[in-house]
Amino acid sequence: RTISGQSVAVDKAGHRHFMLKEIYEQPTVLSDCLRHYSDGTAVTIREGELDFAQTDRLILVACGTAHYACLVAKYWFEQLAGLPCDVDIASEFRYREPPVSDRATALFVSQSGETADTLAALRYARDKAARIVSVVNVPESSIARDSDLALPILAGVEVGVASTKAFMNQLGALAHLAILAARQRGRIDSAREAELLGTLRSLPGLINQALALEPQIEAQTRRLAEAQSVLFLGRGAMFPMALEGALKLKEISYIHAEGYASGELKHGPIALVDKSVPVVVLAPRDGLFDKTVSNMQEVMAREGRVWLVTDAEGGRLAGDGVWHRLVMPTVDPVFAPMLYAVPAQLIAYHTALHKGTDVDQPRNLAKSVTVE
Ligand code: G6P
Repeated sequence: RTISGQSVAVDKAGHRHFMLKEIYEQPTVLSDCLRHYSDGTAVTIREGELDFAQTDRLILVACGTAHYACLVAKYWFEQLAGLPCDVDIASEFRYREPPVSDRATALFVSQSGETADTLAALRYARDKAARIVSVVNVPESSIARDSDLALPILAGVEVGVASTKAFMNQLGALAHLAILAARQRGRIDSAREAELLGTLRSLPGLINQALALEPQIEAQTRRLAEAQSVLFLGRGAMFPMALEGALKLKEISYIHAEGYASGELKHGPIALVDKSVPVVVLAPRDGLFDKTVSNMQEVMAREGRVWLVTDAEGGRLAGDGVWHRLVMPTVDPVFAPMLYAVPAQLIAYHTALHKGTDVDQPRNLAKSVTVE
C-alpha cells in the first residue's frame, strides 16, 4: 500500500492540485458559511455579540488576500450600513500606531489566525477599540483567542498557498456583518435584509455556472501565459477584485501583474499599455459600466488587448473589439465581487499551468507567515 501516494490523491479529490480542488469546493463551503450566518431571511448573529449602532468607525486590518477581502467589505459597510470604514495592511497599522477611537470596532481577518503582523496589530488595538472582532478560518488560532469575538468562516482546511476558498468565505462572513450593521444602524428594513440574503444564497449556484467557464479560460490563458506583464482593472467593489486577480496571477505564474481602479488608468498605468500587455477588465453591468467601457476603449486605442469579464451583452455594452470576452452569469452588483473571484482564480491557475510553475507551492511564499 502506498499510503502517502494514496492519501495525496484522496486529499486532492481527483483534482490535479489542491488549489483547483479548493476552487471547486467554493459552492459547498460558501453554502455552509451562508447557513451559519443567516436563516435565509435574517442574519442570525445575536444582538449583543456585535453592536454596530454604537460604533463610530470600523477598522479592518489584514495581510495579503485577506486584506483584499477587507477592501471589498469596505464598500459593503459604507454603502449598505453607512458605517465609516478604514482598511489597513497589518504591517502598516501596527507601526503607524494610528489613533483608535474607544467607540471603534476593530476587525481582523486572517485565514490562519497566526499571521504575525495581524496578531501584533490586534494587540495594538486591544486596549483602545471598544471591541476586537476576528474573522478566521482556524477557530483555535492565536488571533481568535485574543479577540472578544471570533467569527469562523468555515472554509475547511486550505492547503494551496494561494488563498481561494478562504477568500470566498471571508467575503461571505463579512457580507453578513455588513447586512447586520445595516439593520442595526436603521439603514435597511427586514424585507431588504431578506432580499440581500436571498442574493447571497443564489451565489453558490452562480459560482457553479462560473466554474463551467473553465475550458474557455484554460484556452485563453494559453496566450496570457506569453505576457510579461498583465493589468487588471475594476471599479467600485470590483477594484479590490482587480487587486486580488493581479495578486493571484503574480503569486503562482510569476508574471508581473498589477491591479488598478479603472478610473486611475489614465494617471499612470496607461503608459504601460501596448499590444504586448493584456488588460483583464472585471466589469459586471452596473451603474458605472459605461465608464469602464470608455476605459477599455482607451486601452484598445493603444493596441492593448482587453480581456473583458462581464455579464453585459450586445452592441457597445459587449465591448466591441475586445480581445476576448468571458460571459458571466448575471448577479446583483452588490455581491458581484464574490462571483468574479472565480474567473480571477481560474485565470491565475491556468496561466500558471501553461507556464509550468508549482501552483500549490509557489516559490518564496509561505501559507502562513508567523514571523515578521
Ligand atoms: C500569506 C499567504 C496569503 C495570505 C496571507 C495572509 O502571504 O501566502 O495567501 O493571504 O499570508 O494570511 P492569513 O492567514 O492571515 O489570512
